[in-house]
Amino acid sequence: METIKPIQSESAAATTWFRAARVSDFPPNGGACVRYRNLQIAVFNFTRRNEWYACQNQCPHKMQMVLSRGLIGSQEGEPKVACPFHKKTFSLRSGQCLNAEEDRIAVFPVKVEDGFVYIGVPE
Ligand code: FES
Repeated sequence: METIKPIQSESAAATTWFRAARVSDFPPNGGACVRYRNLQIAVFNFTRRNEWYACQNQCPHKMQMVLSRGLIGSQEGEPKVACPFHKKTFSLRSGQCLNAEEDRIAVFPVKVEDGFVYIGVPE
């Protein structure tokens, strides 16, 4: 898997916006995995917060491609995803692991335009 340096969701560092899928392809308050080149990116339609997030699909704990199937929630206002395997939890804003000493995950900015979801990725 290609390694991408983590970037903040709020960052303007993304240089390419790729059209991931239609808004209707993502379940409310849930995630789905999209591919960009050889990357798997987990995209979350966080309906409860009226927000979207994207991060690497690979959990750094056991390198499983599972984060898109994780439960999303909030911890002291911070949006997070819990890996479905062993419940390591990651901030969807910073990518930081919130309940263990795992590596930070890469996060990507998301925008919605004309019914489509776009993910910002480095060139
Ligand atoms: S594989 Fe994700 S927490 Fe273990």
